[in-house]
Order: sequence, then structure tokens, then C-alpha cells
Amino acid sequence: ARVDKAGHKHFMAKEIAEQPVVIGDTLSHYLTDDGRDVVLPGDGIDFTSIDRLTMVACGTAYYACLTAKYWFEQLARMPVEVDIASEFRYREPPISARTAALFVSQSGETADTLAALRYCEPHAQTILSVVNVPESSIARESNLALPIHAGAEIGVASTKAFTCQLTVLLLLALKAAKDRGTITDDRLADILSSLRGLPALINNVLEQDTTFRKCARLLAETDNVLFLGRGLMYPLALEGALKLKEISYIHAEAYASGELKHGPIALIDKKMPVVVMAPRDALFDKTVSNMQEVMARGGKILLVTDGPGAKEANEGVWRSLTMPEVDPILSPILYALPAQLLAYHTAVAKGTDVDQPRNLAKSVTVE
Ligand code: G6P
Repeated sequence: ARVDKAGHKHFMAKEIAEQPVVIGDTLSHYLTDDGRDVVLPGDGIDFTSIDRLTMVACGTAYYACLTAKYWFEQLARMPVEVDIASEFRYREPPISARTAALFVSQSGETADTLAALRYCEPHAQTILSVVNVPESSIARESNLALPIHAGAEIGVASTKAFTCQLTVLLLLALKAAKDRGTITDDRLADILSSLRGLPALINNVLEQDTTFRKCARLLAETDNVLFLGRGLMYPLALEGALKLKEISYIHAEAYASGELKHGPIALIDKKMPVVVMAPRDALFDKTVSNMQEVMARGGKILLVTDGPGAKEANEGVWRSLTMPEVDPILSPILYALPAQLLAYHTAVAKGTDVDQPRNLAKSVTVE
């Protein structure tokens, strides 16, 4: 079927706006009718016979894997290795028999990711994939393919595929936690209930579009942007920096907040905005002290936080964006929205080709 922009200026804008609906679709495919349990397609997978998870991907899908590592470790107490496909395929990593290898790919055709899958195939106990195209090579060569149900994604910079990948990966981590007996029924019920409420929270963020546009106009004036995050917000900071550089051509880098003083703090001056992604979670105070280190050196902070976080930490910040409150475990999915909206509006303000950024391809099928 032909996909059009449905009244939006760019496919990227349409795909950002679709997220409440497509995430709702993803959830409906992976939850029982009463919404209280996770169901996987086909025969599913039993995590009781699996000791390790190896996740491999490229680009945005790689950042989805980095996020999922925190989920599998925290919820399912499972050791996880994550690598970029182009590195993984050539470093001859040993794969033990009780390993599940998981490949995340929007297109399902990325050459390096497919090669990494073929490397694991003779060794791993099972090959899993999280894909948007169910008939793709990566899906076909997996023992179990988990479709993300995001619908066609046209914009080169991935948006809805990322949040749907995260949704499926979180559901898979919950299934693993259940199989391995590492989650209580109450906690599982809590997380599933928060997930069901997520589309409404995303709508709430989308309604603040004008605020993001105003902030982005300021970002469009700068040459460099630094993104900081801790814990689950660290991979998201990486994704935020990737989105911004891909479509606005502004140099952007991301660091784990705690790494600030090991190098990047040398770059801080009043010309470089520092985007801090920090819901009021268990690590919030640590991130606030990193923020203060930036401000003490004349750096400009753009703080993306929630109501309680803004109340505590807004003093002295350059700009602040307030997100709805959400169970911290889901924060990467919700905070993907500000990362996308800031990049999108910055690119629009700069007049770049948002859907077809220079030098980039939607699907990289050559090495
Ligand atoms: C290209 C695209 C990225 C994407 C990456 C991985 O670089 O421009 O947006 O994240 O490939 O693609 P995949 O289809 O494997 O997710």
C-alpha cells in the first residue's frame, strides 16, 4: 500500500505522531485480552533454559539493545552482552550453548546484523529477532521473530520503530523475568498497567509540540550539543544525539552523566547547550550534581524531567521541558519523544531535508 504523509509536513512528523497508536497496536499483539500477561507469537521462548543473552544491532536499533540490557539485567537478572553488528561479526566472540542471540532491526535486512546472526546460528541455543518487516531475511533466519507492528517507516531517522522496539524488548524482558522467577506478580502487574497507560502519556507529550519547537529554534543556532543521561537515560541520550546529528547536521555527542568529569567537561562553555534527560528517579540527585558542575562552568542546561524533578532542580537551568510522570522502568520509551521532537524541530528550523538526510540510507544492505 502507498504510504502518504497524512497531512504532515514530513514522514518523520507523521511517524512521531503515530506513536500512541502504533505502541497501542504493539501492546495488543503481545498482551492477553485482559492485558494482564505477556504472550509471544508462535511457540514463544522459555527462558528457564537460557543463561545469557547476546544482543546485536546497528544504529538506533543498537540503542534499543543498550536500553534492553538494563531491563534484562534488572528485571530478569540475566547477564547481557550488547554489541554493534560490524564489530561483533569480526571479533569472533565465544558463544556458550545456553545463550539466546537477539538481533534488532527495523528493516530486517541490515548486512552487518544479518552476518552477525549467521555467525551465532551454529552456536547459540536460539536465534531471536525483533523486526518491523516480518518477511525480512533476519526474521526468516530466526527461530523466533518478534514483529514490532510499527507499520511502514519512511523517514530515514528511526522514530516509531525505536519506541516499538523498546516496547517489545521490555515485554520480552518481563517474560524472561516471569520464567526465571525474578519478578513478583505485583510488580509485573504494575509494569503492565503502566505500559497500557503509555499511549495516553505520549499523547500528552505530543500536545506540547509548540514548546519543543521553541526550544529547538535555540538549538538550531548552535554548532555542538552534548546529551547526558544516567542508567536507562544513558542509551536514550545516545539516541538523542544520533537523531540530532542525523537530521540537523549539528555535532552532538552523548555521555553517561558520571563520565562528564572524565573528559567532556573540558568542552563546556556558554555556547554549548547540554541536554539532560532525567526523570525524578533513584539516580536523579546524582545527575543534578553533574548538572551543577556544568552550570558552575557557565554551561547551558536544557533539562528534560518530570514535575517533581522540575520542582527540585529547575533553578539556574537554561530551559526546562516537563514530561508526565511515569514508572521509571518505562521512562526510555516516553523520553524518546523529546529526543525526537527536539531533533525534528531543529532540523526544520535549519531547513535540512528531514526525511532524506544527506549521505544516509534507510536500510544499509552492503557492508
Ligand atoms: C541505517 C538507518 C538507521 C538505522 C540503522 C539500522 O543506518 O539510517 O536509522 O537505525 O540503519 O537499521 P535496521 O533496519 O537494521 O534497524
